[in-house]
Amino acid sequence: MQTQRLDTSPAAIAHAAELLRRGELVAFPTETVYGLGGHALDETAVTAIFTAKGRPASDPLIVHLAHASDLPIVAAATPPLATQLAAAFWPGPLTLILPRHPRVPLAVTAGRETVAVRVPAHPVAHALLVAAGVPVAAPSANRFGHTSPTTADHVLADLAGRIVAVIDGGATPIGIESTVLDCTTTPPTLLRPGGISLEALGAVIGPVQVRNRPPAAEQHGLASPGLLDRHYAPDHELWLFSGPPAAALARLRAEAEAALRAGLRVGVLLPDDDLTFIHDLPVAIESLGPANDPATMAHRLYAALRALDARQPDRMLARDLDDAGLGRALRDRLRRAAARVVEV
Ligand code: TXA
Ligand code: MG
Repeated sequence: MQTQRLDTSPAAIAHAAELLRRGELVAFPTETVYGLGGHALDETAVTAIFTAKGRPASDPLIVHLAHASDLPIVAAATPPLATQLAAAFWPGPLTLILPRHPRVPLAVTAGRETVAVRVPAHPVAHALLVAAGVPVAAPSANRFGHTSPTTADHVLADLAGRIVAVIDGGATPIGIESTVLDCTTTPPTLLRPGGISLEALGAVIGPVQVRNRPPAAEQHGLASPGLLDRHYAPDHELWLFSGPPAAALARLRAEAEAALRAGLRVGVLLPDDDLTFIHDLPVAIESLGPANDPATMAHRLYAALRALDARQPDRMLARDLDDAGLGRALRDRLRRAAARVVEV
């Protein structure tokens, strides 16, 4: 199968929508990352999504809707709190876990009686969902466990030949995935930090439980299998230095020097402000943007990780980031991408 690259013209979107209705898989941009879309109520299409990604059937998918008012199509009930959240954050990068409507195939929810739902804000995603007229299940459009795609080229690098088409809508603005909030618990539980910060959620609905990630050994029967430790992983190993910035940077530099002495190729992923610490070393560098600008760093994170990875370093080094606001999601993704976290 040759994967078509479609533009964002109304004709191309109408074509993509028709493909989706017929049960084919189409990747498309959202405001967070590219999604690998399939007809959510068509079990064959849903199964094909898992196959294309190489994703275990035990990891449930997010269902994307054109409008918040479509929620009753896929959710059996909408608690008042979910209505409040939808009014505040949809369309946008927030995924709500709600009771599953029986018409949603269990393949979508990996056998659960809950369903993950989101109304994306990206104009191309919105236009596609309106034209398709059906709910669209879409995980991030990467091979399972790999870094999420923020451009159509990233999608093709992972999935060319495995899906019918990708709509090329340029780089996705936010760059990291949606926040996943379980609304079936009281108070609701943050399952994955993402594009909507915990602080922003709290301002609308009050207390939110934060589910701390269990160690890998205890990850059986997880509330959300996407919380698996190693995820969003580059091909080459990433070491993450965590602790007060100055100490973390000093340790990162020392490790870079040691690796260089050992004849290894070293890649470094850092906020702009930190680059002076390593500028005199012969290392490959990808910068994330200003350290005080988490939105820019989120926008660049996955592309920078892929770019550094493509330069084939034996070891990649990064510093842990501050976890206020969007920083919480950034830190989460860096930690999951890391083969090793060095606490300084
Ligand atoms: O921003 C995003 O959310 C992107 C775009 C394409 O919308 N999608 C995305 O999908 O990141 P995916 O499949 O890569 O991540 C979905 C996450 C996983 O961690 C999954 O385990 C969790 O949502 N999830 C889905 N359904 C769930 C459910 N019923 N209960 C708990 N967690 C669920
Ligand atoms: Mg994913």
